[in-house]
Amino acid sequence: MADALLPHRTERLQLRFHEERDAADLLRVYSREDVALYLLEEPWTAEQTAERLAKRITRRTLFDEPHSLSLVIQDERGRYVGDLALWLTDVEHRQAEIGWVRDPEHPGRGYVTEAASALIRMAFTQLDVHRIAAQMDARNDASAALARRLGFRFEGHMIEDLYCKGEYTDTFVFGMLARDLPAT
Ligand SMILES: CC(C)(COP(=O)(O)OP(=O)(O)OC[C@H]1O[C@@H](n2cnc3c(N)ncnc32)[C@H](O)[C@@H]1OP(=O)(O)O)[C@@H](O)C(=O)NCCC(=O)NCCS
Repeated sequence: MADALLPHRTERLQLRFHEERDAADLLRVYSREDVALYLLEEPWTAEQTAERLAKRITRRTLFDEPHSLSLVIQDERGRYVGDLALWLTDVEHRQAEIGWVRDPEHPGRGYVTEAASALIRMAFTQLDVHRIAAQMDARNDASAALARRLGFRFEGHMIEDLYCKGEYTDTFVFGMLARDLPAT
């Protein structure tokens, strides 16, 4: 069913599944120190990019394994401008989590806001999701600002709940319920 909903057009963008041709853009973006700073992983090598892209290509539905969507955001010119992930953390009770990355070459345009907003609406109205969580390193101001801009509710500040890259880190937890969805 998810496959049938994608690709999906928004005002300026298109959301589509990952393809082999995305390798160069993913490597260009995910190999950067500034992008990786608050991600769980270190900057990617070409080999890691190939492995991760192969997995992303399979993430095409929330209704069957792997219960995960991995989407490229592309602009009107077909350029990669970022990507989104949405996966179920509880399949039976339709609990999901969302993740986002923007290409540093496309700042200040609201591209991720526009794309994530469309994905969230799709999740609640067509993919039977009950709640979406957005979690980030508490120092990741841009990601927390994005969650707030999208209408997520701040639910908590977890203290040193994660050991990542050689240190204990704090996590911000945001949540949104289907009934929180703003009317169109
Ligand atoms: C987290 C991240 C995705 C946030 O991206 P972002 O640039 O804030 O998101 P958007 O593309 O929606 O752009 C928002 C910006 O465009 C501006 N903007 C312009 N037009 C806009 C519009 N029509 N709608 C919304 N925002 C608009 C906003 O004011 C905002 O500006 P600011 O950066 O000066 O605050 C990005 O910082 C990133 O990729 N970080 C590295 C990876 C990472 O940490 N991911 C999250 C892990 S939890």
